[in-house]
Amino acid sequence: MKIYFATGNSGKVENGRNILSDCSVEQLDVEMFESQSGSIQEIALSKVGQAVEKSDVEDDVFVIADDSGLFVDNLNGFPGPLSSPFDSMVGKERLLDLLDAGADAEFRAAIALHIPDGEDQVFTGNVEGEIVRPRGDGGFGYDPLFLPKENDETWGQDPEFKEKISHRKEALIKLKQFL
Ligand code: IMP
Repeated sequence: MKIYFATGNSGKVENGRNILSDCSVEQLDVEMFESQSGSIQEIALSKVGQAVEKSDVEDDVFVIADDSGLFVDNLNGFPGPLSSPFDSMVGKERLLDLLDAGADAEFRAAIALHIPDGEDQVFTGNVEGEIVRPRGDGGFGYDPLFLPKENDETWGQDPEFKEKISHRKEALIKLKQFL
């Protein structure tokens, strides 16, 4: 089965290929805007809809698109879907200014699947943890600030461990089971 992954990020496509090993996963690099919503599920669905509309992929192929973010409990889930613009415009240090040490947070990912002649589906994954002062320089984004539950190293310190349990991996595994 062939699946197009609508994303500008080739690392995500590689990730998808590793998990959806029975499928041929191709990158679909198409311009998509992120709708303003507090829900990563809604954003992922909107992205996959745009990808199908704007690209000239065959009518009978499966297309996926994703969205993800860091949701901090006592900030009512902020930055959530705004994680990327918050990081580039304000920065991680200012996020720490807003929090008490050990604030609970989780990473969440949503992957939307467009099914030809079927109803679009969304698969989600999440990993709980807490926000700490940055440790380690592995990974990307908020990884150095994120200490997963029952662990003593952040995802910045142990990116290999992250790959085993990540929110994106959980969502991809659910997608694989569905397919
Ligand atoms: P997107 O899903 O590619 O739009 O990513 C949204 C943003 O959420 C990223 O730019 C990061 O700031 C943050 N984020 C999502 N997943 C991760 C992760 O696994 N590690 C660190 N930051 C992440």
